[in-house]
Amino acid sequence: GSGAIKLYEPLSRHTTMRVGGPAQFWVEPETEEGFADLVSYCDDHDIPFMVMGRGSNLLVRDGGIPGVVAQLSRGEFARYEVNGMEITAGVGLKLKQLTAVAQNAGIGGFEWMEGIPGNLGGSLRMNAGAMGSQTFEQVVRVRYCDTDGNIFTRTPAEMEVHYRDVPTLRQNYALSATLRGFPASSEEIAAKIAESTQKRKTSQPIAASAGCIFKNPTSIPAGKLVDELGFKNFAVGRARVSEVHGNFIVNDGGATAEEILTLIGEIKAAAARERGIELETEVQI
Ligand code: EPU
Repeated sequence: GSGAIKLYEPLSRHTTMRVGGPAQFWVEPETEEGFADLVSYCDDHDIPFMVMGRGSNLLVRDGGIPGVVAQLSRGEFARYEVNGMEITAGVGLKLKQLTAVAQNAGIGGFEWMEGIPGNLGGSLRMNAGAMGSQTFEQVVRVRYCDTDGNIFTRTPAEMEVHYRDVPTLRQNYALSATLRGFPASSEEIAAKIAESTQKRKTSQPIAASAGCIFKNPTSIPAGKLVDELGFKNFAVGRARVSEVHGNFIVNDGGATAEEILTLIGEIKAAAARERGIELETEVQI
């Protein structure tokens, strides 16, 4: 149930930034039971363990990741079911697929997810958001397993949930979740998707990136701040601040994690020095 193991799988193949050294052991479990067994085995034997979503909000270091990296994208993790205005889906479902499921079922409220290259699991872990919406506004309940492989079902009120961070899912691994929408026609949904696609096209780069690098501080959007600090188009090696949006670092081809981390460090230092603002990264490092 935990699938075949690949040794030293390059994670640059599995991140939208196209950066990152190898995972020592790469696995793609297909059943919840197989996954829970794997989690508890690693815990019992002190083997480092990590779950990776679609790698769209992740910066993997050049040295790679020791231990086991599991991607939940197949079998039971890609299942979904519609019940009235609720969709229950495995964490492996891509957000784009979730939007399509909602549209076909006449459920509105999922349109903002359409252009995000991640899956449901990453979206839960991060409380991902766009276009003024965020994941946990729609979550009804989450099923997750702990490091001993025990499975729990919890409502958002029973979990710790913040802007772009869900601490409850740091040491627990989401398996599936139920999200709620509202009745909407396919035309209404299509119009909203077209609107956000248009907005994204003009305000975000298409080059390889990990989406927004920094969380928005309360005083100013991070992208605007980076822009005002004069960093647009500033590069360290093959890593460059996008000319389209200041909160995106793009990979011009062959960038290293080290170059990206240096660029992040320079931006943070300038923000602190010139504006007294402590930028916090939004991407998982
Ligand atoms: N702005 C600038 N210069 C820039 C970039 C932005 O002046 O280089 C200004 C914009 O003109 C706008 C403001 O800053 O007035 C905010 O920009 P934008 O509307 O692009 O939204 P954002 O706050 O930068 C957030 C999310 C994005 C999400 C967009 C669209 C965060 C950190 N970012 O960006 O999420 O796609 O809204 O809804 O909350 C991500 O999480 O990876 C991500 C891309």
